[in-house]
Amino acid sequence: MLKNLANEQSLNGAVSLRKHLKAAALNNIMGSIFGKRYDPTEDAEEFRVLKAIVKEGFELLGAFNWSDYLPWLSYFYDPSRIVARCEALVPRVRKLVKAIIEQHQLRTSMRILFLIMPISSMSCFLWMVMRSSMNDMIAVLWEMIFRGTDTVALLTEWVMAELVLHPEVQAKLRQELKAVVEDRGVVDADMPRLSYLQAVVKEVLRLHPPGPLLSWARLSTEDVCLSNGMVIPANTTAMVNMWAITHDGVVWDDPHKFMPERFVAEMGGVDVDIRGRDLRLAPFGAGRRVCPGKNLGLATVALWVAKLVDHFDWAEDKAKPVDFSEVLKLSCEMKHPLSAVAIVKKDVMI
Ligand code: HEM
Repeated sequence: MLKNLANEQSLNGAVSLRKHLKAAALNNIMGSIFGKRYDPTEDAEEFRVLKAIVKEGFELLGAFNWSDYLPWLSYFYDPSRIVARCEALVPRVRKLVKAIIEQHQLRTSMRILFLIMPISSMSCFLWMVMRSSMNDMIAVLWEMIFRGTDTVALLTEWVMAELVLHPEVQAKLRQELKAVVEDRGVVDADMPRLSYLQAVVKEVLRLHPPGPLLSWARLSTEDVCLSNGMVIPANTTAMVNMWAITHDGVVWDDPHKFMPERFVAEMGGVDVDIRGRDLRLAPFGAGRRVCPGKNLGLATVALWVAKLVDHFDWAEDKAKPVDFSEVLKLSCEMKHPLSAVAIVKKDVMI
């Protein structure tokens, strides 16, 4: 990704980050789940199909469907062709994921057969789910690919947009990187020691939570009386508006201001646990349906931001100023994708 960004910058004088982040996020999740990395030149066809399927899935889930509001409509016709498109997508997903699982099964069996790999070393995620039925495997793996791709890319894009407009925060991040990492290049293991970086990511999750409405799958089993007197009747599908909580002036000082320091204890801030224990900021949800990829997501975004800041100086693209308008699709994303000037600081092997 760093190399592609540097190339695009030298060709166009600016970079449009989203496509790079989406490709890297998909590649990253495929690596974590299947142990499979794509090289844009080698596996180009399979990667292209995968990207197209993921894109179609996102479009379908984010699309407006009249039948969701007027269910009786679905008995007569499919106004936005949502059902027809879903029916066409499912066999494509099954075919692709099944083929990757089968390749993996074959490779693994060969390695065991030729004693290249002891059974005890098989700890990848795919091996764990391989004990389930093919249908369950496809469903679980697809859910991970699907939920773990856009969220990571879009959150990184929001972080970079804030950094483009806040060079002083970029400078503090570089100072921290210099103190902790020096010149050896940042790696996963550095993340716990980069507290200002963690605060930046938290602050962006507060201002721009990629999943602003939680709990799509929750139904009240009985009438619930809230402290303000409101009653949620039994059988209501309830959503928690996390966006409203994270922008509430009663909960947060100056809620619309980008201020990572609010999360750094040494700078007078509070250290909030964002993994579902503190409902003031639960961008991954909470309880039984909390995001299972939260640690992977946080670690990935923090590492990518560290690398992007370490290798480039980020400045505003004057031809396309940063616009924080939001659009809610499956995730809450920047309505106008970020374009920025990325001045190479360190060699990225163009
Ligand atoms: C920084 C990135 C991420 C954010 C902000 C995020 C956010 C969320 C949110 C808000 C939910 C819904 C929780 C609820 O309704 O209470 C969720 C669910 C989910 N996430 Fe993530 N997520 C991220 C990364 C990932 C990754 C990397 C994976 C996969 C490895 C993943 C897999 C899932 C799955 C499978 C669910 C559904 C859980 C269920 O319904 O029980 N997420 N995520």
